[in-house]
Amino acid sequence: MRNAFHAKYLAATFVLAAATLPAGIALAADEAATATTAPTSATTPRVAVLATGGTIAGQADTRAANAYNAGAVGAQQLVQAVPGIEKLARLSTGQVASIGSQDMNDKVWFALARRIQEIFDRNEADAVVITHGTDTLEETAFFLDNVLRTDKPVVLVGSMRPSTATSADGPSNLYEAVEVAASPAARGRGVMVVLNDTIQSARATTKTNTTNVQTFASPNSGPIGYVDPASVRFLTPALQPDSHKYALPSGEQLPRVEIVYAHANMDGVQIDNAIANKARGIVLAGVGDGNTSKSALEALQRAAKQGIVVVRASRVGSGFVNRNVEVNDDTSGFVVSLDLNPQKARVLTQLLIANGVTSPAQVQKAFAATW
Ligand code: DGL
Repeated sequence: MRNAFHAKYLAATFVLAAATLPAGIALAADEAATATTAPTSATTPRVAVLATGGTIAGQADTRAANAYNAGAVGAQQLVQAVPGIEKLARLSTGQVASIGSQDMNDKVWFALARRIQEIFDRNEADAVVITHGTDTLEETAFFLDNVLRTDKPVVLVGSMRPSTATSADGPSNLYEAVEVAASPAARGRGVMVVLNDTIQSARATTKTNTTNVQTFASPNSGPIGYVDPASVRFLTPALQPDSHKYALPSGEQLPRVEIVYAHANMDGVQIDNAIANKARGIVLAGVGDGNTSKSALEALQRAAKQGIVVVRASRVGSGFVNRNVEVNDDTSGFVVSLDLNPQKARVLTQLLIANGVTSPAQVQKAFAATW
């Protein structure tokens, strides 16, 4: 079904793009470079749309059986398929990657972070919107939130349905993402995620449903705002200027940090494997309050003794992991993730290690500082 939907979606997208190109937008022959639309007015905000792939850019190949391709449509075609979007902002587009976000990786993250920082440092745009698959969207948002130095809006957007589905969400999500990015009230709020009329913060949000359009939620704090075609409403004040920004290490790779998923009848094998794989950090996706069996805890203690950063997070999906409740973190040399889910705790641990922050006390302080 999905492939058929996507084939029709693409056909519809290209027909619409060709038939209704707004004045000032031309199809780019090569989207590797950033293409720009003509200004609506000199005071209209400039928003750069950077595409990375995902269902929002999905395409089906009818020649093969298993050929859903999550990142086939280019950035400019995506923008051109959204009626009225050109009235919100002076739009430019760029293609950073064309992948399903299950394949998101350090190389693309570094390219994205560097390109966004360059856009702001050179004053090429007032805000950036990133189109992205929803599977790992929260990790990219959190990574960018921790490395970008700007108070200008950065918004990630994806979609859950192809556009030929009843009530397709891609075009309206992209419209609303640009609407939020262009809003003066969006400044100083860090990286945001916009889907299905809701605005979430990069730190708090997570994908909670495999298919539902209301998949992104912020279980500990709720959304930071709402958006509809007529208005952008923030429920919280803008953040204080950020002090917790981390430098990108030279090279294209973050340090190896593994997530170990806890379960009943758990032994220490996964943890010993992570140690053998030269992990610099291990994040426990623990049961309950970041908990696990005695033998797994002993394996984690062995890891911590070797200087591996050990962070206890939870597989539960909401709530905080607290220090020294059932586990003695002080004597074990462990860190707790507080509100961060395992996948985000992993990203922060990678950035900390890359920036030379490795002692349990320093790492714990950094986890607390970003809350
Ligand atoms: N595998 C998915 C991804 O790119 C496609 C689905 C989606 O974008 O939600 O994350």
